[in-house]
Amino acid sequence: MSNYNPWRLSVAPMLDWTDRHCRYFHRLLSQHARLYTEMIHVGAILHGGAERFLRYDEAEHPLALQLGGSEPRDLAACAKLAEQWGYDEVNINCGCPSERVQRGSFGACLMAEPALVADGVKAMLDACNIAVTVKHRIGLDKNEDYAPVRDFVGVLADAGCQTFIVHARNAWLKGLSPKENRDIPPLRYAVVHQLKKDFPALTFATNGGLQTNAHIAEQLEHVDGVMVGRQAYHHPWDLTTWDATFFGAAPFTRSRDEVELDMVAYMEREVARGVPVLSMARHMLGLRNGISGARAWRQVWSDHKRKALPPREIHQQAMEAAALYRVGD
Ligand SMILES: Cc1cc2nc3c(=O)[nH]c(=O)nc-3n(C[C@H](O)[C@H](O)[C@H](O)COP(=O)(O)O)c2cc1C
Repeated sequence: MSNYNPWRLSVAPMLDWTDRHCRYFHRLLSQHARLYTEMIHVGAILHGGAERFLRYDEAEHPLALQLGGSEPRDLAACAKLAEQWGYDEVNINCGCPSERVQRGSFGACLMAEPALVADGVKAMLDACNIAVTVKHRIGLDKNEDYAPVRDFVGVLADAGCQTFIVHARNAWLKGLSPKENRDIPPLRYAVVHQLKKDFPALTFATNGGLQTNAHIAEQLEHVDGVMVGRQAYHHPWDLTTWDATFFGAAPFTRSRDEVELDMVAYMEREVARGVPVLSMARHMLGLRNGISGARAWRQVWSDHKRKALPPREIHQQAMEAAALYRVGD
């Protein structure tokens, strides 16, 4: 365990991306980064089978479960399950702007209902002994006033929430796709810094648009933590610098080939349980970004014609393709 606060640096929850295979891969690259599940709807967990949605590998710790939902009783039941399954934290999504999620009355639209979220937080804290945290935006639609987000945090803090992960953009609930909602509303990090000033005893992590270690370090001058999403997914090798740079740990010494071989061993175990190989391999396609042969290597690992081959054979073919590419450079 490091001496740093648990939210110092994390990989963001990303639907369809940060599944357990992705998290296993990320954990090979950083021992200390906190990892989050994708948002999982409370109904899926309670009625669709906890095993299917909550299973993970022990190596993934420290690990947080992110919930989509708003009904306090359901949130509490899932928080209890999260603790039973050994998660280190349970997080409520108050930042997703998708129309489907709005129709379900959770995600970003919950920022307009702090009292309901506060009831959820209280019910979850009563039901479990792990950290209950909230991930949210800095406002809704075009309203850039500070008071609503300050009051949102204040109400949840009164309910017992001590940690806030703040995507430093408004969520525009109408007219933008979820993807556009991650790029178009302007980033306003100063709002997160102001929250930390106004609530110094609470833990705040900044999220949104952070790409380099310099960006991360700059945020850490103002807040307790940083959460990185797309950059971490597309450029996973960045994670290998995190433990030494941000957690005072020894430099990462393993090679990309060694990491890939660890993933091959993992995929062999999972294939034996019926998991399709390419559904796991897709998360590591950024492993060799920026390196000669990366494209050829990636093409082999994403080639559907090879989906029935054993992982080790695909690995060998990918390495050969990358080496061949180098010869022809
Ligand atoms: C493909 C994708 C799926 C996402 N799914 C979730 C999600 O399930 N829960 C959530 O809180 N945020 C989700 N997000 C938002 C990210 O967690 C993060 O807030 C956002 O991408 C901004 O951070 P970044 O600029 O570092 O990527 C998703 C983002 C992407 C790209």
